[in-house]
Amino acid sequence: MHILLNRESEVPVYIQIRNQIRAMIFEGKLAAGSILPPERKLADSLGVNRSTVLNAYKELKADGLVDSHVGKGTVVLAHLNKVCESQDAYQYPVWRQYFNQNAERSNDPLLRDILEITNRDDIISFAAGISGVETDPIDALSGMEEELFVQKGHYALKHTPTEGFTSLRENISVLMGKRGIECSPEEVLVLSGSQQGIDLAARVFIDPGDVVIVEEPSFFSALQIFQSAGARIISIPVDENGMCIEVLEQILQRYRPKFIYTIPTYQNPSGISMSLERRKNLIELAYRKKVLILEDDPYGQLRFEGNRLPTLKELDKYGYVIYFSTFSKIFFPGIRIGWMTAPIPVINQFTMIKQLTDLHANSISQWMVDRFLSSGKLEAHINKICNEYRAKRDLMIEALLNDPVEGLQWNKPLGGFYLWCRLPDGVPNSILLGKAADKGVAYVPGSSFCLAGRGENYIRLNYTYPDAEKIEQGIIRLKEAINESIASGGRSKRSRISEIKPIV
Ligand SMILES: Cc1ncc(COP(=O)(O)O)c(C=O)c1O
Repeated sequence: MHILLNRESEVPVYIQIRNQIRAMIFEGKLAAGSILPPERKLADSLGVNRSTVLNAYKELKADGLVDSHVGKGTVVLAHLNKVCESQDAYQYPVWRQYFNQNAERSNDPLLRDILEITNRDDIISFAAGISGVETDPIDALSGMEEELFVQKGHYALKHTPTEGFTSLRENISVLMGKRGIECSPEEVLVLSGSQQGIDLAARVFIDPGDVVIVEEPSFFSALQIFQSAGARIISIPVDENGMCIEVLEQILQRYRPKFIYTIPTYQNPSGISMSLERRKNLIELAYRKKVLILEDDPYGQLRFEGNRLPTLKELDKYGYVIYFSTFSKIFFPGIRIGWMTAPIPVINQFTMIKQLTDLHANSISQWMVDRFLSSGKLEAHINKICNEYRAKRDLMIEALLNDPVEGLQWNKPLGGFYLWCRLPDGVPNSILLGKAADKGVAYVPGSSFCLAGRGENYIRLNYTYPDAEKIEQGIIRLKEAINESIASGGRSKRSRISEIKPIV
């Protein structure tokens, strides 16, 4: 690629690079599907910093001219072909000028990349946050076709109320009762996945500049959602007993946050559960400071050992806790059904915003969940997957213990989906990520769950998704990648994958 830089020019170097690549695309010299040189290679050949090329590529991406994909590199987009052939190329819209600030703030493709990498055959993925194929309750679907198309089609294929199917809300209210939470069906809103609930919460509660409190580490999508809503996010560290309430107390002396977002049970990503004492202290503090709590509980039912801990909602006497949960981790993630329970004024407000967003959750999916709950098979299924996941967790820990990497540490979660590992000192995730992907293993880097680049020396490993026999192999590959990163002092030549904006 022939790029000439004018170092005397007032035009910043990254813009010069961007303009020249742009011109090559418009002139057809770089055809759709072409892969741009890796950032480091181009930077070396031009004698500039890698970040200069990175910024040029970011601009091209924001202009809608290229996209980057894990494992492929930065690719010229296909839909440009016709435009380049048939029109004055410079008429092509500069997309970035049209996107709002909100879109700018949501520019991290992490989740999309995780889903993509999980589908790759050559990768053993510890990156996903989903159930294993062999534990999926496929049996529970039998007979569905007949019922749906012969008996219930008129019902399950039409609109539902925004709040959700009445019978599903009733079933969820019974389920809540079993989780120790008394709530009427009217206090339940069916969501298109619980992530939608987090997004609705951002829309209902956050004005740009508002403070919200999160744990650190925390669920990356929640961080991205709050960020994109323009919130000022303050994070409270998590130790082995969950969110550090003393730190929170100090923060609440200085700030009046809109809410505290917490995943108290088998947290994503750390696997940690908040102790009973801290749960009580948190609720007490919330009452004193009049701060709402968003309790996100996708994993609470997946207890392998240890005592059952009450949810915050269960402990809440005055209605300060808004509770979210999902069928993604105990039924199927692709049906996209979750729910929230909260006092009726909150449900009403969320319903109004949900109505504007998607009218209602998918009717067939609601019907499928309702049918599953009515069958009474959920409890047996949860028992079954808890046994399977406990065994998989133990397999992963055993594989880590076998010929261990010095300095690599991990926790032993008592439930849920994840192992949170601390890397040995001096192994940057940016290097390890590429090495691991080259060896055919994927994980999520700790920095994705933290603010301001923290968490660099942590990784999250999921044990529920990979087949049991692949867990050991995947851990062997990961340990090799870590050992090689240590041996190269963290300064090895980067692989192709790590040059692309990573996750996995
Ligand atoms: C803590 C947490 N909250 C919410 C979600 C989203 O779940 P859903 O699939 O219901 O949107 C996840 C999924 O991984 C999660 O880990």
